[in-house]
Amino acid sequence: MLQRSEPGVEGLYCPPAPNPPRTRLRLLKLLATLGRNPLECWSAEFFQEPIAKVRLPLADAFLVHDPAAIKHVLVDNAANYRKDPIQRRILATGLADGLLSVEGDRWEMQRRTLAPLFARRTVASFTSAMLSAADLLTERWSKLEPPATVDVAAEMTLLTLNVLALTLFSDGIGGDLDGFRAAMNSYFGTIGRIGALDLFGVPDFVPRPGRRRLRQTLAYFENVIDAIIETRRHRLETSPGADAPADLLTLLLRALDPATGRPMSSAEVRSNILTFLSAGHETTANTLAWSAFLLSQSSDWRARVREEADRELMEAQPGLAERLVVTRAVIEEALRLYPPIAALSRMSEGADTLGTFHVRPRSLIVVAPYVLHRHRKLWERPDVFDPARFLPPSKGNIPRFAYLPFGTGPRTCIGSSFALQEATIILATLFHRFEMQLLPDASVWPVQKITLRPANGLPMRVSPRWSN
Ligand code: HEM
Repeated sequence: MLQRSEPGVEGLYCPPAPNPPRTRLRLLKLLATLGRNPLECWSAEFFQEPIAKVRLPLADAFLVHDPAAIKHVLVDNAANYRKDPIQRRILATGLADGLLSVEGDRWEMQRRTLAPLFARRTVASFTSAMLSAADLLTERWSKLEPPATVDVAAEMTLLTLNVLALTLFSDGIGGDLDGFRAAMNSYFGTIGRIGALDLFGVPDFVPRPGRRRLRQTLAYFENVIDAIIETRRHRLETSPGADAPADLLTLLLRALDPATGRPMSSAEVRSNILTFLSAGHETTANTLAWSAFLLSQSSDWRARVREEADRELMEAQPGLAERLVVTRAVIEEALRLYPPIAALSRMSEGADTLGTFHVRPRSLIVVAPYVLHRHRKLWERPDVFDPARFLPPSKGNIPRFAYLPFGTGPRTCIGSSFALQEATIILATLFHRFEMQLLPDASVWPVQKITLRPANGLPMRVSPRWSN
């Protein structure tokens, strides 16, 4: 498939992306492309139309990229649009009792209970843990024999897992981090495939390829996590005083539903730990990888980020992420061009109207941030990398429902402040400490495998800007 023009409009940089097919794909081609890379299914019309209707074998689908209609589906009439069974089937394995998957009263209870864990002040208190994880990486990279080549995509995955490990379990996972990471990769490798069985709504008891491996991986995780929870419970019960580790696990075990005063069950605690690891790990890693890639292609923005990082990282920690405004704009632009969650989906419960369309019950609604963020009617030069969109005064002109890397409405990402703070601090640290150049023969290409990631990794040459 052809890439969109590299030098871009008026000499501006258009990073690699599939060239949308001129017409809609027919069913068989659609299924094959969905299996390979769902990004390549979006034909040109979807980047122009506010709402488009597609007939699927068992239901209608509406592809909704009109800000007013998105607000209607995800905010105003959200009660009529539940997370759809396909998404839940693919994502929920092992996360069934966690915030991402539960519905109705259980979701409301969990969301109320978990909200304080991701409040701005709590997230700010994780700055040191985020800087420590970044330092571990920079120490390791500094010791590499020059000229060193690393796969930045894989490195970011490791780094974001370390951030979660440090913020969830500040006293360690009690053993084998490599084994934990390998199991995590295997888990993601298995759950990421949207198969024909899922699309046609074939029930869960019909075996899917890779399911057995996923179950084994999950069993491993559940044992490790149960052991960590039990050790911590015991510690909190036997010494309830001030020395409790200040991390997400302590907050989770002490969290009470403000409406009922009820704590979470052990199954809910475990499922939410898995949920945070799953939802917060690859997504943030991809954000960082794409940001590093985009910066490697723009000497101008690289210089601006570096100048800011050199200045701000020397200052005190409080407020650090807020002061890194240029770095943050680069990250927001990376999230626009390569949103890690490229598509959100819902299923209508009752009938409704969207624009000029009648929506029948059990219709599939897709809001694809990937399409929305490159929509011809909503963005100027949509395919061009330009972080200035996210700096004042331009930032104020972005329509509220045209930019949704974290979703919106009641089911919006609970970890968005955490992710933005983490990505900002880490990107600044990396470009402060290292020269990072893409290998000249690297072929960078976006592929959607649960998250939107670089298909062939991101091989970069890294060298310290100074020696210690
Ligand atoms: C750049 C990184 C991230 C991106 C792009 C992202 C994106 C999203 C999106 C789009 C949704 C909404 C899905 C929907 O409406 O169907 C979501 C939900 C969620 N995210 Fe994130 N996320 C990120 C990081 C994180 C982190 C760091 C955590 C936790 C540590 C997290 C935890 C969750 C949870 C628990 C939900 C479900 C919320 C609910 O249903 O109430 N995410 N995320």
